[in-house]
Amino acid sequence: MDPKEQEEAINKILGKLKALPTLSIVVAKVIQVVSNPLTSASDLSRIITVDQALTAKVLRLANSAFYGFPFRIKNITQAVSILGFDTIRNLALTVSVYKVFTGENESDFSHQDFWKHCVGVAICASLLAKKIKYRSPEGAFTAGLLHDIGKNFFEQFMHKEYRDVMKLAKERNISVYEAEMEVMKIDHTIVGKMMAEKWNLPHELTVGIASHHHPEQETQENVMAHIINVADIICKKKAIGFSGDYVIMPISKEGRELFSLNEAGETELMNDLDKELKEAEAFVNMPQ
Ligand SMILES: [Fe+2]
Ligand SMILES: [Fe+2]
Repeated sequence: MDPKEQEEAINKILGKLKALPTLSIVVAKVIQVVSNPLTSASDLSRIITVDQALTAKVLRLANSAFYGFPFRIKNITQAVSILGFDTIRNLALTVSVYKVFTGENESDFSHQDFWKHCVGVAICASLLAKKIKYRSPEGAFTAGLLHDIGKNFFEQFMHKEYRDVMKLAKERNISVYEAEMEVMKIDHTIVGKMMAEKWNLPHELTVGIASHHHPEQETQENVMAHIINVADIICKKKAIGFSGDYVIMPISKEGRELFSLNEAGETELMNDLDKELKEAEAFVNMPQ
């Protein structure tokens, strides 16, 4: 592609990125304190409880069937000590990022189906992470939730062009990724990466967003990139929600090897995903 054309496309997006809502100060602080080894459970809970709505939503998810505790988690301090720092960090992130997903809906792009795709990818990503004992299955979950966040940006801020993208993808039977490049000269992974950087998201999440369509290009954290890439393909194969794609790419050779996905391995993964999805009601139907 003409580098000048792409530069123009990027500048246009940069202008619009200014309008992007910032993550709440509370969430920004949560991310900061969980990466500090000296932070205690009570430090973290003090920060979250400043925001009542965030507290209520985090507790609702912590008590959902997804985590399956036999008793009720009554407060954030208890939630932090039972579920751990990373889980709480990710729940807080999920809750605040979900707001970005709920814009006006005038196109054939259904926010509910799209969110379901993202929840499916999140769950599948954490299953893959656990399978290979990746250091942060929680990070994989959140990266899965956020992987297509660039599409939300297009939908909300470049609505008209994005309608053309969806139409082109359907008519020509090409991937959304290719259609974006053709119509807008930029794709949702580039925009998603810009958003992640603007929000100062942890590096592993940025990688999941930026490299999920080309994990082989990732040099530092390519395991995370492969996790999200494979989880995305599996969810498309199983038609969990809808991401706008009618074209499903094959799982790469590297992905198959990394996660031992021969035919039997793939079936087993899909069955596990079915089971987990049934429990994930609270994530699919997030409160506004
Ligand atoms: Fe994508
Ligand atoms: Fe996706």
